[in-house]
Amino acid sequence: MPIHDPVFTPPFNVVRASHVEFGVRDLGRSRAFYVDCLGLLVSDETADALYLRGVEERNHHSIVLRRTREPEVLALGFKVAGEEDLDRAAAWFARRNLPTAFPDLPHQGRTLRTADPLGMPLDLYASMDRGESMLQKYVTHKGARIQRIDHINCFTPDVQASYDFYSGLGFRLTEYTETDGENGRLWAVWMHRKGNVHDLAFTNGVGPRLHHIGLWTPGVLDIIHICDVMATSGYLENMERGPGRHGISNAFFLYVRDPDGHRVELFTSDYLTVDPDHAPIRWSLTDPRRQTLWGHPAPASWFREGSVFSCVVPREPVLESQPIVAM
Ligand SMILES: [Fe+2]
Repeated sequence: MPIHDPVFTPPFNVVRASHVEFGVRDLGRSRAFYVDCLGLLVSDETADALYLRGVEERNHHSIVLRRTREPEVLALGFKVAGEEDLDRAAAWFARRNLPTAFPDLPHQGRTLRTADPLGMPLDLYASMDRGESMLQKYVTHKGARIQRIDHINCFTPDVQASYDFYSGLGFRLTEYTETDGENGRLWAVWMHRKGNVHDLAFTNGVGPRLHHIGLWTPGVLDIIHICDVMATSGYLENMERGPGRHGISNAFFLYVRDPDGHRVELFTSDYLTVDPDHAPIRWSLTDPRRQTLWGHPAPASWFREGSVFSCVVPREPVLESQPIVAM
C-alpha cells in the first residue's frame, strides 16, 4: 500500500479546512438545531441563508445553511494563504482539465470553485469578511460552546486515489486504516494542513459524499453537556453515535444528525502534528479500538449514510472490505 513522503512545497498553499455550505429544507428548523441547541453564533441571516460561526472564529462563517428543495452539500471551503495561491491553484486545476470558476459569493473574497478528480467540490479562497471573536464574551457561549470548525470527512469510492491527490497538494498523513494481509489496501486516511490530526479525512464507501464536519469544543464536559441537552429538548433521535473516545486521533466525540440528516461531529482533544518528521500511525481495519478506543463499534448508518454533493452522482467503492459494525 503506497504511503507517500510529505510534500513540503505544494503547488499552492492551503491553510486549513474553512467552511461547509449545507442545503437544508427548512431554515427555521435548522436554526433551532444549530443555534438554539448546539450554540453556534449567527453572523448573518437572509430569507434564503444563515451564516454561522463558532465563538473563537474571526472568519464570518464556518457553516452556511442555504434553503434548498432537498438536502445536499453545496460547497466544501478551504482557506489558502494569499491571493496569489488562488491564481496558482486555478492554473494548476486548469492544466488537469478540472473545473475553474470564480463565482461571486457573499462575505467572501475571490473564490475559486473547482473539484477534485473524483468530483468532490472545492471552494478555495484567501479572504472573508471578519466576524468579531466572541472567545472572551463568555455570556454568549451556549450549547456545546463550539469554538471553531476542525475538519471535513468524506466518503470516497477510491481512498488511494483521494489520498494520492491531496498528498500532492501538501496534505500530510497522520493516521490511516489498512486492510490486513500481504497486500494491504488503504481503507481510510486522515490528513492535515493546520497541524493537528486532520483537516480532511476519507473513508471507503459510496462516494464522493460528505460524511461529516467536525466542530471543536473546548473540552470533554461540553460534549457530555450537549448529550444531556439534546436528550431533554427533543433531539434524542438526532444523537447517532457516542459520546466516546476515538482510537484514531485520540479525540473525544459525539456524532449528531441535523434535521436534514447532515452529520456533525462535536470533537475535542486530539494532538499536535506539526513536526516535519511526524510518522503516520497505521490501524488494522479489524482493530476494535480503531473506531472507539473502548471497543464500541459504530452503527451501520455510520458506514452507509452521508450527504450528497450537489450535481455529483456517487459511485460504489472499489474496495469491498468491511469494518466491524454494531449489531
Ligand atoms: Fe471527524
